[in-house]
Amino acid sequence: MTDLLTLSAARRWDIYGPVHKGLRRAHGAMATRLGAADYGADLRPLLDDLRAHLEMAAQHLTHEEDHIHAALTARAPDAVAELGEQHEHHRARFAALTAAIARLEHGERADRPGLGRLLYLEFSAYVAEDFLHMLHEETVTWPLLCALFSDDELMAIEQAIIASLSPEETIATMRMMLPAMNPAERTGLLTGMKAGAPPQAYAAVIEHAARPTLPLSDFAELQRLGLAA
Ligand SMILES: [Fe+2]
Repeated sequence: MTDLLTLSAARRWDIYGPVHKGLRRAHGAMATRLGAADYGADLRPLLDDLRAHLEMAAQHLTHEEDHIHAALTARAPDAVAELGEQHEHHRARFAALTAAIARLEHGERADRPGLGRLLYLEFSAYVAEDFLHMLHEETVTWPLLCALFSDDELMAIEQAIIASLSPEETIATMRMMLPAMNPAERTGLLTGMKAGAPPQAYAAVIEHAARPTLPLSDFAELQRLGLAA
């Protein structure tokens, strides 16, 4: 972990950290909901949210591949191959989850508690794998990226990912990330966004992502800093 201490102290561009914090928080929240659900009740809200969550997780893999892995390909092909294998494993897990959702939706009412438990366990396996995968990216891939790319290059890669998002995807991503980040990370992200994004787009992030997800005290701090109206 020495590399990480050095890289953090040097404030190298943390391309994985904030978005992975958001994914970890969202994975935990979804696992809790799947565990606490009444599988005899109307499952549509839960399963719609689960599908949206898996869609966002799948998009995250694609963003990393299209931008981070593409940049790494020329400079560290072995690292890309290993990351690619882990992503393909996730995709197989997504297929198993999709099948588990369909079995629950179409199952007999009496079978739903058991099918719900299977879905919960399948999701927990995915979360366990993704936590380890994200740990690998932050402790192995990030030091490699820092050795091979300048901060300006890492920022440009991240900017290209952000620029590829639709307005709806931007809001969904910010809803996931903002409540998971620490105050310094949140302030840094929003300060940069306020300076670079059109005012309407920034206002939408505040109204539809920050205000509904942050504790009152954290939102008040953004107001105090002039980052929220
Ligand atoms: Fe990844």
